[in-house]
Amino acid sequence: MTGVIITIDGPAGTGKSSVAHLLAGRLGLDFLDTGAMYRAAALIAIEQGIDPGDGKALAAAVHAERLHFDWVADPPAILLGDRDVSLPVRGQDVAGTVSTVAAQPELRAVLVQQQRRIAEAHPRLVSEGRDQGSVVFPEASVRFFLDADADVRALRRVNQLVEAGLPADRDRIARDIRERDRIDSTRSDGPLVHPTGAIVIDTGQLTREQVVEELERLCRAHVPAARFDQ
Ligand code: DC
Repeated sequence: MTGVIITIDGPAGTGKSSVAHLLAGRLGLDFLDTGAMYRAAALIAIEQGIDPGDGKALAAAVHAERLHFDWVADPPAILLGDRDVSLPVRGQDVAGTVSTVAAQPELRAVLVQQQRRIAEAHPRLVSEGRDQGSVVFPEASVRFFLDADADVRALRRVNQLVEAGLPADRDRIARDIRERDRIDSTRSDGPLVHPTGAIVIDTGQLTREQVVEELERLCRAHVPAARFDQ
């Protein structure tokens, strides 16, 4: 069976995760959310009182806690041992810690290696994150970079919170997004960059459905149809 890897990178708030999941469904590929892996590492740090700047300790803890995915669930669930942590990794405390955790080279090395192993077991994959096209799978069949102005991304987040009946401070959210962009883009290891040769899509004026349509069209244009119909 021939492998086909599609990478989707970009900053927070571009709708990458839901777009990647929908695209994987349309193309009949598996879906890997690498942000969930960094979030799970942040959850471990919080629960075990590990310094989020201690990459060595984080790398050891991720190994000891058996971070892995349950591929039967759709989207795949993230587990620590037998515990499904798909919900707790979305919590506020994790969001506040994960950028620091994700900047640690020792942790990145472990997770990048794990992502490549996952791709060996799941060679037909849409992989989403910050460094998937630049570092982890530079030879991917198609590499996308989704972008949008920080204010547009902040407004989307505000709307999500309002829809969920939660309080939303627009200025604070915009500040947090810019700060996360800064940390993600300036770290020395696996920074958020436009991978050379990646297709850049500005999602600012597009609905999620339009983004998925466009990515599907481009994937089908770049990859022989037979590779999707297996
Ligand atoms: O996409 P997300 O919001 O779930 O990502 C959570 C954090 O992990 C965010 O700070 C960026 C970081 N991350 C990363 O550094 N590399 C990846 N491949 C995926 C996410």
